[in-house]
Amino acid sequence: MRSFWFHLKLRTAIFIFLTLAVIICFFTITFSIVNKGGGQRVFERQRLTVQHGINCTAIYEMEPVELGKTLAIRKQKTYESATDQTIAEATSGCDQFATGMGYDAIQGTEFEREFPLAYSFVVHKDAALVERMLRAIYMPHNIYCIHYDLKSSADFISAMKGLARCIPNVFIASKLEIVQYAGISRLKADLNCLSDLLDSEVKWKYVINLCGQDFPLRTNAELVSDLKELKGRNMVESKRPEGKEWRWSVHHILKNNKSEYYETPVSTSEEKSPPPYNIEMFVGSAYFTLSREFVVFVHWSFLARDFLAWSEDTYSPDEHFWATLIRVPGVPGEVPRSDPEISELISKTRLVKWSYLEENLYPPCTGDHVRAVCIYGAAELRWLLNYGHWFANKVDPKVDPVLMECLEEILLEKRPQLQ
Ligand SMILES: *[C@@H]1O[C@H](CO)[C@@H](O)[C@H](O)[C@H]1NC(C)=O
Ligand SMILES: *[C@@H]1O[C@H](CO)[C@@H](O)[C@H](O)[C@H]1NC(C)=O
Repeated sequence: MRSFWFHLKLRTAIFIFLTLAVIICFFTITFSIVNKGGGQRVFERQRLTVQHGINCTAIYEMEPVELGKTLAIRKQKTYESATDQTIAEATSGCDQFATGMGYDAIQGTEFEREFPLAYSFVVHKDAALVERMLRAIYMPHNIYCIHYDLKSSADFISAMKGLARCIPNVFIASKLEIVQYAGISRLKADLNCLSDLLDSEVKWKYVINLCGQDFPLRTNAELVSDLKELKGRNMVESKRPEGKEWRWSVHHILKNNKSEYYETPVSTSEEKSPPPYNIEMFVGSAYFTLSREFVVFVHWSFLARDFLAWSEDTYSPDEHFWATLIRVPGVPGEVPRSDPEISELISKTRLVKWSYLEENLYPPCTGDHVRAVCIYGAAELRWLLNYGHWFANKVDPKVDPVLMECLEEILLEKRPQLQ
């Protein structure tokens, strides 16, 4: 009798044990599938293109029904981006973050690994957008410097530190600035990153700077292939000043501008001396793609150092510093002063759409404008990808969430497959 009861208990125990094992197994498998299926689900809602059955190829083909769906989504305003705090919290568990967001699965081909790139991010808000931009260009063999504005919010700063802690080869600039609109601090933010990047163990070949609303239009492999063809030349806008001489002909002082930015340079009546070393001035944009040799030159040369010091009290020196230095005779990758102007349409570094050139040079903006610059809409997907430029400015999912999802999807599909 006792042996019978014992037998029965043993069978029950085994039964319960097996059932539990099956249940645990089931949950583990389900959880890992959910995690792999779309890592972003850690804190991003399911993608709108999936939710609404939007076909990015059809968007690219400009099919009206598909474009109509994107307009409906924009009207509903359902997109909600993750807050800085959410990103900061998500990076508190690094393993889960790197796996969940798919960073650990990214790998470059041999072709890409032998040509590492560096990036300088000058950012001040919207951690979710910065993270998405980083994820879109990330390769573990590249190197990424993040310069956050010292006046950014505590949550944003902690999110940036989290990204740097959790993602290999991402770091925070060792020297940080309070970035003033059109002031020298904007230029210094990039220079701080460049100097740290030169110290890095990654022997990068080219460096590109990005701000918070840029997005890639090319895969890392395509970019490497284009950059190899430059053969050491730089890709920077450089035009004759024509009407912009006021920016450096007089001394500027930083004044409190209550409207939107903290301080901006305001002109005074005090005249400035001409630039040192008879440097001939050119203007362009703050965006650059520079060769390592050129950055080494800027870092060590007295000419560049003195030109920077002279630029301290000019208006928006970031828009003449690079444009001028690439034309200085003898610099690595020099553009002769007599060469034609390099406009933003020729320089592939950044595709920006200005409201006053729409219809004239390119089709109108289908998103929204901010300070005369277009924030792209989904109907511009084809134009953006076919133009031939490397990065787009400005992209913001709050204006059109589908455009960014489609860019991500198309770039991901174009990534070379590893053997
Ligand atoms: C997406 O659209 C393209 C172009 O219209 C079409 O060829 C393709 O079959 C569509 N894909 C799906 C999954 O519907
Ligand atoms: C403040 O900055 C804005 C944006 O650049 C500009 O339009 C405005 O004129 C500036 N105001 C003053 C008082 O400088």
